[in-house]
Amino acid sequence: MRFVELISKKRDGQELTPHQLEALVDAYTDGEVPDYQMAAFLMAVYFQSMTSTELGAWTGAMLHSGQVLDFSDIIGAKVDKHSTGGVGDKVSLILAPLAVAAGLKVPMISGRGLGHTGGTLDKLESIPGFDVNQSVERFKELVDTIGLGLIGQTKEIAPADKKLYALRDVTATVECIPLIASSIMSKKLAEGIDSLVLDVKVGSGAFMKDIDRARELGQTMIEIGATMDRPVRVLITDMDQPLGRTVGNSLEVIESLETLRGEGPEDLTEITVELVAEMLNVSGDMTDRGSAKMRLRELLRDGTAMNVFAQIIEEQGGDPRVCKDFSLLPTASNQVEFTAWDSGFVEAIDAQGVGIAAMQLGAGRKTKEDSIDHAVGLVFHKKRGASVKSGESLLTIHYNDDKNLDDVHERLKAAISIGNTEPEQPPLILDRLQ
Ligand code: URA
Repeated sequence: MRFVELISKKRDGQELTPHQLEALVDAYTDGEVPDYQMAAFLMAVYFQSMTSTELGAWTGAMLHSGQVLDFSDIIGAKVDKHSTGGVGDKVSLILAPLAVAAGLKVPMISGRGLGHTGGTLDKLESIPGFDVNQSVERFKELVDTIGLGLIGQTKEIAPADKKLYALRDVTATVECIPLIASSIMSKKLAEGIDSLVLDVKVGSGAFMKDIDRARELGQTMIEIGATMDRPVRVLITDMDQPLGRTVGNSLEVIESLETLRGEGPEDLTEITVELVAEMLNVSGDMTDRGSAKMRLRELLRDGTAMNVFAQIIEEQGGDPRVCKDFSLLPTASNQVEFTAWDSGFVEAIDAQGVGIAAMQLGAGRKTKEDSIDHAVGLVFHKKRGASVKSGESLLTIHYNDDKNLDDVHERLKAAISIGNTEPEQPPLILDRLQ
């Protein structure tokens, strides 16, 4: 096949056949198509987009570029949730055991944090001994017996995406809805799930800055799921301020444990319960949303979800005593209060600015190769809408190294607005797509 002809066809807005797209993905994964040709093709997609048929074939080829897990012999509905990423987004740690407590099976393959956004694997690795590197056989056994496995991306899953994403990163083709949607869906559908719930975040701390783009991304992923007979539901949720009270790995684990015993902040509890209700819904296990949500809150309060989490921690090599004794988690050696410089209302907390401040403390990575400090981060005492007096603490900074502390202070000052007007609180769940 002459790949240059496929590039020119796409450049001129013509539709490629599934066979042509599959050949292109396969040849690129095998190194037969060089980066410069694929870069040109990706840029053509950026401007010309893809039809639904093209996108289904493209995603299918990415999905089948590596190992596709088959959990069909495991009894029960296998369903996962994926979030497009945010600041303080520790939902997966609570959602996965809660969904299992509610009767679902959750094979969860997560990623690491990069830039201002955090990653589930880094949070899990704050738990002493927790090992996110499990073989596929062991992962399957965990899903079968406990109902849950929490592992990292393996190099065998969707290798085409790994190569394509790295190329998009350096060719200004990341911000392209068909390419984002195919990247996410190829990895998720390789997990052996029956259905999927997506949390598409919108706002200053999110990948999608406006709701129309978030809806378009959500709808595109629903269409891809439909072409592969995998029902997908989407919640569009607010990421204009950090989620919950904490940002930073060990601190977020503590907040997740508090939420797992029914004592978490309302925004975090609400979003988690809504997403698990949607997982039940997409699996056909929900008759009434209101009573499902009440039952889920009860599974948090009565310790059922926490027991599942303790079990998976133990099975994956971690110390389950952390569920009761938070002092077993990494703790920063220093704490300092970040106080209000004026009286009034907290009008806004720019999530991206907060995420970068946490990264500067060492909680996140600037590049994929950076190491992180699990103990450091931020604990908010005042969120958007709170009234505050000058000198009162807005948040506590947990740190080990004071080298970037001045920069962190400046970034937090720029991220938080204090004013005289009590701001409107937008709903947390902005839309629901199916
Ligand atoms: N997350 C992904 O996995 N892929 C993208 O392209 C963007 C965000």
